Amino acid sequence: MKQKRGMPMEYGKVTAIVLAAGKGSRMGSQVPKQYLTLLGHEVLYYSLKAFEESIVDQVVLVTGAGDIDYCRSELVEKYGFSKVKKIIAGGAERYDSVYMGLKAAAPCDYVLIHDGARPMVTPEIISQVLEGAIACGSCTTAVPVKDTIKIADAEDMAVDTPERRGLWAIHTPQGFSYEVILEAHERFRQGAYRIPVTDDTMMAEIFLRKRAKLVKGSYRNIKVTTPEDMEIAEVFLKKQEAGR
Ligand code: CTP
Ligand code: MG
Repeated sequence: MKQKRGMPMEYGKVTAIVLAAGKGSRMGSQVPKQYLTLLGHEVLYYSLKAFEESIVDQVVLVTGAGDIDYCRSELVEKYGFSKVKKIIAGGAERYDSVYMGLKAAAPCDYVLIHDGARPMVTPEIISQVLEGAIACGSCTTAVPVKDTIKIADAEDMAVDTPERRGLWAIHTPQGFSYEVILEAHERFRQGAYRIPVTDDTMMAEIFLRKRAKLVKGSYRNIKVTTPEDMEIAEVFLKKQEAGR
């Protein structure tokens, strides 16, 4: 029987979807950023390790069609990531990869969706998000923004400055009741036009009017997106590996 403080005794089966099917165009490297090396391991290794050591029951890994064999032999089998039950091909856009992951995640009660390009995720963050998903149906780890944020027009002229208090930067993992997030994605896919949906809490807000619980996570949980993020990630990972 699994139980954790603050969690119900039984909450069903939890699947994590780890996304690694992007091309990493903003990184500008030959190899997609999730396969770049940080302290001797691929960026993706660290997310898979955190989920392996976490409360989730199983992991669906979504990657490029040509990278499935590599993931199986060089990550899952090599490191014994026994929770990775499926490795599947993703789609052209992030939301396509998520949808394919959702189909492969069934049957389950809760799903956590994570960017494989965020190596600093921890088992603690994963538990916090699952707890929020169980309580609210939609939950994400996030941090309050430190910079002033402006909204600009196409000519880079500022048009508005929202009050900083109340603004959060949204990270992953994000957790949902399985039916909630599947329904949101199905409605999105039925729509005639595709709006740029960049995360899944947004999907639930737009298509189901379902609000997300924001749980304060860690400023270290960055997404490696551009080359300088690799330098920052290395510093953070060194501290994390040293238990600081
Ligand atoms: N992702 C995915 N399938 C896609 C696009 C993105 O699985 N079609 C994944 C990425 O691999 C990454 C996460 O979604 O782990 C977040 O996306 P992002 O940071 O935008 O990664 P990329 O799309 O790879 O990078 P870029 O936008 O710079 O091309
Ligand atoms: Mg992208």
